[in-house]
Amino acid sequence: MAVSKKVFIKTYGCQMNVYDSQRMEDVLKPLGYETTDGPDDADMVILNTCHIREKASEKVFSELGRLRNIKKERPDGDMIIAVAGCVAQAEGEEIVKRAPYVDMVFGPQTYHNLPEMVAKAHRAGNVASRGILNTDFPEEDKFDHLPAPTKPEGYTAFLSIQEGCDKFCTYCVVPYTRGSEFSRPVAQVLKEARHLVDQGILELTLLGQNVNAYHGDDGNGSEWGLGRLIRELAEIDGLKRIRYTTSYPAEVDQGLIDAHRDVEKLMPYLHLPIQSGSNRVLAAMNRNHTRDEYLRVIDDLKTARPDLALSSDFIVGFPGENERDFEDSLDIIRQVGFIQAYSFVYSARPGTPAAVMDLQVDKIVANERLQTLQKLLNDIQSDFNQSCIDKEFPILLERLGRNEGQLVGRSPYMQPVHVDAPVDLIGQICDLKIISARPNSLGAELIIK
Ligand code: SAH
Ligand code: SF4
Ligand code: F3S
Repeated sequence: MAVSKKVFIKTYGCQMNVYDSQRMEDVLKPLGYETTDGPDDADMVILNTCHIREKASEKVFSELGRLRNIKKERPDGDMIIAVAGCVAQAEGEEIVKRAPYVDMVFGPQTYHNLPEMVAKAHRAGNVASRGILNTDFPEEDKFDHLPAPTKPEGYTAFLSIQEGCDKFCTYCVVPYTRGSEFSRPVAQVLKEARHLVDQGILELTLLGQNVNAYHGDDGNGSEWGLGRLIRELAEIDGLKRIRYTTSYPAEVDQGLIDAHRDVEKLMPYLHLPIQSGSNRVLAAMNRNHTRDEYLRVIDDLKTARPDLALSSDFIVGFPGENERDFEDSLDIIRQVGFIQAYSFVYSARPGTPAAVMDLQVDKIVANERLQTLQKLLNDIQSDFNQSCIDKEFPILLERLGRNEGQLVGRSPYMQPVHVDAPVDLIGQICDLKIISARPNSLGAELIIK
């Protein structure tokens, strides 16, 4: 029977965790759990965690310390503390040991089992810890058993189509925390997309740890790649924009390149992480592509869609990276002109091959390199934003801005755009002329035709 309770889900890490948190909310709703925006009035708190770098996973334990105090102050100790996501998967046993007041620890592939886990926790009563640990890998089951998503706020939504990773880059925990690659069947993806569009969603971002490794069963004995899937999604009336992230360079195939050529709804902006510009480092990372192969992929994509712009991820200070290798990274940034990028100092992760490699780079050196690299990236981003002045773009106006009479939207290149415009344009794609540029955003005016 449904009871009226409150759940607070705190999300760390990548967009797949954001999507997963929304789906957990959907699973919990029929059990009577409404969402709340802080732990203080929550009957259950779920930390949806990220294990990608040391800092990310440490945050979890400090947050757990805070939650423990809140739980202690409850007159009857009645609060369920749960840890989900990639730290739960990687360090489930350790969490239970280090933080015995945690009631539930469960990995990313188990969210459809939440009702059972919650029922079990309730049955256990107000004991110090309900001690529920679930880090199984039944990937195929999860999506089959999750309810249809309720509409996220706004006009854009994430849709996970692929999970897991078989690439085993030597620095990365994802293959261990998310398991091997799995693609949702075509029909399931199309159904979820139509459902979201029926509820007013205009822009979908398809998600996967390796989204372009998608190879979904079409129900007729064949598999569809991402390009084919995008073509089919573009047929949905009412869906205006399609994006996808994150892609793996060695998995960009002709079908996807052709989709960029033919599908107008596919935005001309692609996040294609390279990590390093040095062939030596790329090999040590087990990235499966050289710098030239990466550049060739970009050439092909740009031939198909000349207005395509790119973003990337970089790791600096990977074991063995010397000054020349680092210069190669700066060089490829200049050559490609990434308009946005995430960059990180290498973080040694337990259990990954790189963590025990020789020649770990000094932290101070690595941090200096990061600053140099980020300065270059910021300069290029600013130049790109400047170059947008006087151009006209279709902008999806998403919400009110901070200033009176102002709306905020996103350009095809994901730049936030501010414009003075009537409120009833929220939820529409309007042609705007860019009139000003800042390092991280643009200003625009409505084009009156
Ligand atoms: N699947 C995506 C990346 C997922 S992880 C891809 O292949 O590109 C997101 C980013 O975190 C990575 O692109 C990488 O830049 C960074 N990252 C992953 N492991 C890291 C580590 N051990 N130290 C520092 N950064 C890391
Ligand atoms: Fe990690 Fe590499 Fe897989 Fe990306 S491709 S998730 S970086 S192992
Ligand atoms: Fe982090 Fe897991 Fe995503 S480790 S980046 S939350 S896949």
